[in-house]
Amino acid sequence: MQKSGYFGISGVDKIIGEGMAYGSQIMIRGDSGVGKTVLAAQFIKEGLGCKDTCIYVCCDESPHAVRQTLKQYGLHPLPFEETDRLVFVDAYSLEPTEKYHFAGDDPLEKYLALENRVIKAAAGKPLRLVVDSLSTLLLGRDSQEILEFHRYRLKLRKKEDILTMDLIVDEVIDDTAFKVSSHLYDVIVKMYYAGSPERPMRALHVGKLKSGKFDSSQLFYTIADKIGVVIIQELWG
Ligand SMILES: Nc1ncnc2c1ncn2[C@@H]1O[C@H](COP(=O)(O)OP(=O)(O)OP(=O)(O)O)[C@@H](O)[C@H]1O
Ligand SMILES: [Mg+2]
Repeated sequence: MQKSGYFGISGVDKIIGEGMAYGSQIMIRGDSGVGKTVLAAQFIKEGLGCKDTCIYVCCDESPHAVRQTLKQYGLHPLPFEETDRLVFVDAYSLEPTEKYHFAGDDPLEKYLALENRVIKAAAGKPLRLVVDSLSTLLLGRDSQEILEFHRYRLKLRKKEDILTMDLIVDEVIDDTAFKVSSHLYDVIVKMYYAGSPERPMRALHVGKLKSGKFDSSQLFYTIADKIGVVIIQELWG
């Protein structure tokens, strides 16, 4: 049977029932600071816990900063990096300091070639891929280039059975690009600020999905020390 995977966040995993088949594509979208990177860290932790190889593409922060975030949520990356179970791609720093580096203003074609190379190096293993954030990678590019890249890349990753998670910062990607690309994903998690100015809250919902099996209840969450996103309340209906 094909392997299926989870986020590593219990209230969310309950919604996705039997898990997401490898080859599924997940979009995490939300405003800046809402907790996308924290959720991605939990997704990686979950993956490493179930023996996956994980690739983390850093576009918004250096790999060093992401390593610190992982540590903050109870995952010490070094032993996994030493055994090639966790691989960082640095698409943030101006100068290469990591094994894999992408200069942000190079064509997307070049990025795709790099992603392919990293994936090839881990071929044959169950793989999770996180791009944090894809919106940064797409920023300022021609919409035709974006569309072609996006479609082609997701097709490849599906064929390779990779559990792919793309983070999208809502303010960065324009509406048209978002609408065009969102239907390419199997799972879309929207994270947002809710509540009132006196009592600010965060909430998410797990939307869409090709299977139609998911519901989209609003889940309030908090970001807890050493754990990350924790669902605190579920409002049904
Ligand atoms: N230990 C903690 N306890 C409480 N809140 C925390 C903790 N660590 C981080 N946070 C919260 O998490 C938020 C950062 O979340 P995160 O970096 O995942 O956001 P993001 O959605 O990735 O933002 P961006 O789009 O800017 O990258 C901070 O605003 C902070 O409020
Ligand atoms: Mg982030």
